[in-house]
Amino acid sequence: MRKGCGIDGDDQQERFDFVVVSNRLPVDREIAHDGTARWKPSPGGLVTALEPVMRTNDGAWIGWSGTAGDEVEPFTTDGMHLVPVTLSEDDVRDYYEGFSNDTIWPLYHDVIAPPKYQRDWWDAYVRVNERFAERAAATAAEGGTVWVQDYQLQLVPRMLRERREDLTIGFFNHIPFPAYGLYSQLPWRSQIIEGLLGADLIGFQRRADAGNFLRAVRRLFRLPTVHNRVELPPQGEGRWPNSGGARPRAVVARHFPISIDARAYIDLAHRADVRARAQQIRHDLGDPGTIMLGVDRLDYTKGIGHRFAAYAELLAEGKLDVNDTVLVQVASPSRERVESYKALRDEIELTVGRVNGDYGTIRHSAINYLHHGYPREEMVALFLAADIMLVTALRDGMNLVAKEYVATRVDDDGVLVLSEFAGAADEMQQALLVNPHDIEGLKRAILAAVHMPRGERRQRMRSLRTRVIEHDVERWSQDFLTALAEARPSDSARQLAAGDQDQR
Ligand code: F6P
Repeated sequence: MRKGCGIDGDDQQERFDFVVVSNRLPVDREIAHDGTARWKPSPGGLVTALEPVMRTNDGAWIGWSGTAGDEVEPFTTDGMHLVPVTLSEDDVRDYYEGFSNDTIWPLYHDVIAPPKYQRDWWDAYVRVNERFAERAAATAAEGGTVWVQDYQLQLVPRMLRERREDLTIGFFNHIPFPAYGLYSQLPWRSQIIEGLLGADLIGFQRRADAGNFLRAVRRLFRLPTVHNRVELPPQGEGRWPNSGGARPRAVVARHFPISIDARAYIDLAHRADVRARAQQIRHDLGDPGTIMLGVDRLDYTKGIGHRFAAYAELLAEGKLDVNDTVLVQVASPSRERVESYKALRDEIELTVGRVNGDYGTIRHSAINYLHHGYPREEMVALFLAADIMLVTALRDGMNLVAKEYVATRVDDDGVLVLSEFAGAADEMQQALLVNPHDIEGLKRAILAAVHMPRGERRQRMRSLRTRVIEHDVERWSQDFLTALAEARPSDSARQLAAGDQDQR
């Protein structure tokens, strides 16, 4: 419900019972030929999941527009009320590229790249988290519910509770949470845990992530945890965490594996133009016997190099033939000003050149490398065209591409090769699970996928699809909001959980 009433004397500000806070707004700005700007919903699953809840409850979404220095007034687009937060050039460098993506990101992904611990980046992280918390405190209605998203905003729950004890606060971490042995490297490890404990419910992708978090709580604060609950004693006593409010309360930490809008992928997979495009792709690639596909942000966590190494060895050993096989690698540009991402791009593009130079022919490239992002229609056509999907992440919170591939395969065909280090592996046991560090094992899995009989492909794909269709992103948001209402049974939280059930 939208309210004009004021809290703390601010009568002008519109207030909302349900507020989502994420680093980015769920819209992209599109500049038309005549120079006018338009906001277009970004295609992510989170928007799809939360859009109906936002509409029913007249919610608001707080986030950054994606452009440094952008100062935009709150606005409504497609029925969603958006509240932009401004990030300066310095904020983008130190909070987003620095602390979020060059400290937390590598640390939480098992230090695949070395995390950098810079004090000025931490200062920027605190400063920007304060700004998001201020915005959320000024946007949420009395007794409302705020759902904070992801690792860029781990301090927001506590900062928000310090300002507004009346709110129900949820937090969801989209990336892994590391084992304590790694987490303890972080110079600001206690502050981050205190930040998160400001929430009533903290969601993680995997059971193991929630376990790692609870272990960190026990180790750092000697707080007892019972199952997935942390009982917070009154504040100001000894070493207890300062998690915002003054009252003793409980915090629940549990796993809620995120998913996709499976229906949207199925609908696209049935569309005649998308199916025709899939055939065209196969044709353009020379109608080979086997098309393998990798689709990733160009990120060192994705194991793209490991995938290339296994494939190149299979070509070298004559177990795959370049005249009959191709690997299409879509690597969408990401975080391009961060050093480790620049280095990765150089390394990957050098490898593509080497593999194509060593094994390609005039007619056939071994790897078809595309450094672009594509619209969803094109991705679905690629999924339909691909016989084998390679997801070889070294560490991944979930990996939604694995779920998108499976949802798309309405023909019950195709083989998913999936890293056991992706969160998706917990639910997708019918995939060919691999340890991407084990290149021989990866090669065996690729060959097994190439030679898998149709009957086995169908059987595996059917069970994978059932899981993804039954556990879609709407169910994820419903499960989270229901658990949030149980963790803190306020009116707004109960209403959200009930409203979400009604929509299904
Ligand atoms: O899943 C982690 C995540 O940071 C998401 O929050 C985001 O949508 C995606 O990766 C892309 O990252 P960025 O916003 O840095 O481009």
